Amino acid sequence: MKIKEKVFVTNNFEETQKLGENFARSLLASPQGETSNVITLYGELGSGKTTFVQGLAAGLGIKNRIISPTFIIVRSYKLRIKDKGLMINDFYHIDLYRVESERDLEGLGIEEIVNNKNNIVVIEWAEKLKKYLPQKRIDIKFSYEKDNIRKIMFGSSNQ
Ligand SMILES: Nc1ncnc2c1ncn2[C@@H]1O[C@H](COP(=O)(O)OP(=O)(O)OP(=O)(O)O)[C@@H](O)[C@H]1O
Ligand SMILES: [Mg+2]
Repeated sequence: MKIKEKVFVTNNFEETQKLGENFARSLLASPQGETSNVITLYGELGSGKTTFVQGLAAGLGIKNRIISPTFIIVRSYKLRIKDKGLMINDFYHIDLYRVESERDLEGLGIEEIVNNKNNIVVIEWAEKLKKYLPQKRIDIKFSYEKDNIRKIMFGSSNQ
């Protein structure tokens, strides 16, 4: 499935999870280096970012339950995908909702995490991380339409 530069409308949370799962498959199917390993998520509270990450993680074969923000900003999950020459070691779920200043980011090692090509990194509230964002990434914008309807827009930069 090619989902670059596409817009989706989902009608319930399961559809958003499914979209995340399909997106994971498209990531795994692309030869390493051809797609970005950093995925930035934008959109208001409740627009479906974490729901999408749940599907994404499931699609990467992660069995852990992906949860919404606590005070933990960076969570990592082990992953071993060696088929098709992929060498992805870790999946990172970064949630910056509670970050108020650049100082809150110090010591988290985010720059190393996003620059390691053996990681898949998904970042909620990525607008708070301007400084460390790599040029090559996949941007996904979520918008709350009404009730259970969400619009999800995929774009890629520098690919
Ligand atoms: N189509 C849909 N897609 C995603 N979530 C939906 C949809 N319809 C209803 N929901 C509900 O909306 C909520 C979305 O919450 P979620 O935690 O995914 O949002 P979020 O964008 O991560 O918010 P936050 O910025 O607080 O982290 C969930 O309670 C989910 O069940
Ligand atoms: Mg969230």
